[in-house]
Amino acid sequence: MLRLAAILFFTIAAAAQTPARSAIDFLAPTPPMGWNSWNKFACNVDETLIRQTADAMVSSGMRDAGYQYVVIDDCWQISRNKAGNIVADPKRFPSGIKALADYVHSKGLKFGLYSDAGTATCQGRPGSLGHEAQDAAQYSNWGVDYVKVDWCNTNGMNARAAYWKMRASLDIANRPIVLSICEWGKSQPWLWAHGVGNLWRTTSDISDRWVGVQKFSDGNCCSNGVLDILDKEADLAPYAGPGHWNDPDMLEIGNGGMTDSEYRAHFSLWAILAAPLMAGNDLRNMSAATREILTNKEVIAVDQDPAGRQGQRIRKTGDLEVWLKPLAMNSAVVILLNRSAKPQLMSLRWSEIGLQHPPATVRDLWEHKDIAPKSAFSTTVPGHAVVMLKVTP
Ligand code: GLA
Repeated sequence: MLRLAAILFFTIAAAAQTPARSAIDFLAPTPPMGWNSWNKFACNVDETLIRQTADAMVSSGMRDAGYQYVVIDDCWQISRNKAGNIVADPKRFPSGIKALADYVHSKGLKFGLYSDAGTATCQGRPGSLGHEAQDAAQYSNWGVDYVKVDWCNTNGMNARAAYWKMRASLDIANRPIVLSICEWGKSQPWLWAHGVGNLWRTTSDISDRWVGVQKFSDGNCCSNGVLDILDKEADLAPYAGPGHWNDPDMLEIGNGGMTDSEYRAHFSLWAILAAPLMAGNDLRNMSAATREILTNKEVIAVDQDPAGRQGQRIRKTGDLEVWLKPLAMNSAVVILLNRSAKPQLMSLRWSEIGLQHPPATVRDLWEHKDIAPKSAFSTTVPGHAVVMLKVTP
């Protein structure tokens, strides 16, 4: 009987689409993990911050939990020189980018930079348009391992062609460099970006709030809460897989706009989405709760599961949702999500996840406890919270 259950379960797991492999998939076999300066520091970046962040990545246990990339977002670059080479802001990066990359590497971490496919970045710094090969060669010489390429100031440009050009330039530069496509889902990159980039943003920017789409202060549209992004990712599972990931944007955990319970939900949902996990807070000054969330190895293992399947919503009743992600070795993870502010009773029948009998083990990934499996699972989920279970038939 157990075997039958396992087979049924496996059938559901295998139903997730497995697209053909691409030559660049090896660059990110599991969703990239790291840190990016933008959400917390915006343009306020310099080499001291980056060095201290690399140090904190190690001392906080984040490196050992799987975080690898230290990525400087917009505003590190200031101009191009006469030869057209991109120039880092000499006041903020007096030692130069190569020295900084070397420092990050010396900590056992990887180093990333940001550019833009258009004439200028979103903050008006030089973009890569017309300089793709030159920039890629420069990144390679500096020891860059990851490049995020944004989509501001790209009037009339074709996203697929533009990002192909950057990908081809990186290939010629002959250093393994992860390409993070950041065109906010406008041209449905999930339909074309596999083989071009290793991850592609699916929405406009995240903001440090639970729910609500708001215009930016300059009137441009729009920033999203965690739940708004979640909804936009709900149908994109078939497009993700090892080496090519939907990117629901960087994490806001620890930035102060949400409760710890909301941040736990944010982290859990990104993990079940097999999303890149790029911390976006100040790693040098983390509360114990923030560190505990970001380094929850059981949740990280869900995100990094080698099968590389993005989870899906299998039930929605008003504010109450159930999400399921099949894992390698025949197990799966279930999230019970309560979007509302008040605690609510939630139940799960095992048949909903393809099991004919109670599973052999049920583990709560935030309580770090096994739960004795009963004929169904029932619990009160606090407001704006999740319960996250690993189920093994
Ligand atoms: C865009 C991107 C953000 C960030 C900023 C930098 O808004 O979506 O992630 O890189 O630009 O200017």
